[in-house]
Amino acid sequence: MEIFLDTASVKEIRKWLGQGLVDGVTTNPSIMFNDGVYDTERGAKEIAALVFPRPVSVEVTTNDQDEMIAQARTFAAWAENIVVKIPVINEFGVPSLRAVKALVDEGIRVNVTACLSFGQAALAAKVGATYVSIFAGRISDEGHEASRVVRMTADWLDLWRCSARIIVGSIRQAFDMQEAMAAGAHVVTTPPQFLAKLLDHKYSRETVRQFNEDARKALAYMDERRVQVKA
Ligand code: E4P
Repeated sequence: MEIFLDTASVKEIRKWLGQGLVDGVTTNPSIMFNDGVYDTERGAKEIAALVFPRPVSVEVTTNDQDEMIAQARTFAAWAENIVVKIPVINEFGVPSLRAVKALVDEGIRVNVTACLSFGQAALAAKVGATYVSIFAGRISDEGHEASRVVRMTADWLDLWRCSARIIVGSIRQAFDMQEAMAAGAHVVTTPPQFLAKLLDHKYSRETVRQFNEDARKALAYMDERRVQVKA
């Protein structure tokens, strides 16, 4: 299973690359804006170079499918490892799968995003998406069980030997990550702070503190013995 960072913060990406945990990065216009990245091209290129050859998702910003295709071609030309994010439907409910199919046929990798149901994810996978992004937090917001949607999609992809990989995003707490991992997500993309949360545990800290203290006591004991032997 892979872990992507759902961020445009180069500082955070560097930090977690150092921990060996980053298999890719996902962004969207809101993430870029909130992380202070206003120039999409510059930000995307910087991240793509930093994590190369790992994939970096960059999202189109239009409701029109021909414009989606044009933007996607531009983004894909910025760096080899850029994957284009296309929302499964536009803001008026028009499916974007014609654009997805056209890009797939051109050899451009597509991450079909904003999937909130099994049906959306399955249909996106069927037209050849490299990734289908299921938004766990937003599914829960609507009162549904995100892990069930992930599990159904994972089983369906297996059953039909479909190559699409599930990215579970919209992670709101460390528990969401664990749930997605257990439900069969191929990738979980998370804001960096939840990686820190997932790793931390007060009892682990206490355990390590105890070991370090005992190691210090052992050293002190040996020092004392050395002094006694010399005397
Ligand atoms: C995933 O690729 C998306 O960028 C992201 O997880 C969306 O989550 P949100 O619900 O926090 O906007």
